[in-house]
Amino acid sequence: MVNETQSHVSALTVSDLNKKFGRVIVAEGISFDVKAGEAFGIVGPNGAGKSTLLNLINGTEPSDSGEILFHGEPLNSLDPAERTHKGIARTFQIPKPFSEMTVYENVLVGSTFLKSHHSRHERSELAIDAITRAGLTPFFNTPAGKLRLLDRKRLELARSLACQPKLLLLDEIAGGLTDAELPVLLEIIRELNASGVAIVWIEHIVHALVSVVDRLMCIAGGKVIAIGDPHTVLEDPKVIEIYLGSDFQVGGAV
Ligand SMILES: Nc1ncnc2c1ncn2[C@@H]1O[C@H](COP(=O)(O)OP(=O)(O)OP(=O)(O)O)[C@@H](O)[C@H]1O
Ligand SMILES: [Mg+2]
Repeated sequence: MVNETQSHVSALTVSDLNKKFGRVIVAEGISFDVKAGEAFGIVGPNGAGKSTLLNLINGTEPSDSGEILFHGEPLNSLDPAERTHKGIARTFQIPKPFSEMTVYENVLVGSTFLKSHHSRHERSELAIDAITRAGLTPFFNTPAGKLRLLDRKRLELARSLACQPKLLLLDEIAGGLTDAELPVLLEIIRELNASGVAIVWIEHIVHALVSVVDRLMCIAGGKVIAIGDPHTVLEDPKVIEIYLGSDFQVGGAV
């Protein structure tokens, strides 16, 4: 959700990004931008390079060439912790919470990635706020290992929110949820986005994704196949051929 002021500000600008693992090309000339406050979706076949793209943005993998700007500032020389300090947080395709630790303790660990000038008290307040925003308050003292899938997803969100992101990178956060659980997660994501957090969200549950995002990008083989208005992208013959299949319908009530 982008307001009039935000529509002139780029949160993220990716220019001609390239990355190979050995001979496997995972990013080839990838360019796109995400406006401040925008929700931006990414789809593409398995192995397309989607998770790797998030790794390149948050710095867990170095790119071979290309440039990534965050609010106009180059990120290339910054490590993941420095990028978190700038305001980039992410969730992982395979979350790994500390199962013996409570929800609060897990989220507090998330807030330790903040700059050191935050006091212990401030970190605790941020953790409590993140737990509230993710709708996890009833499970404040529950060990993470005892949470059902939906609440593990909320925990993953809360851990990244404790870093006070301006840009949140979500990697298949809706995977595995039931039809009843999905709208709960979507509402949390919509509220985060409405509060001004820009979102880059990879998801295979396309109807859920397009119910939230402003724009959609499809990548395959490390290349941008289509980018733009979600419904236009989903109707693009190349996207249908490479990813969706000819019998695809958006469907789903979320
Ligand atoms: N660290 C790595 N070393 C070598 N190859 C890797 C590494 N990470 C990913 N790959 C390979 O890069 C390609 C892209 O992987 P990536 O995880 O980015 O795909 P993806 O689009 O997220 O797929 P999925 O939809 O299955 O999650 C795959 O062929 C994968 O095996
Ligand atoms: Mg992936």
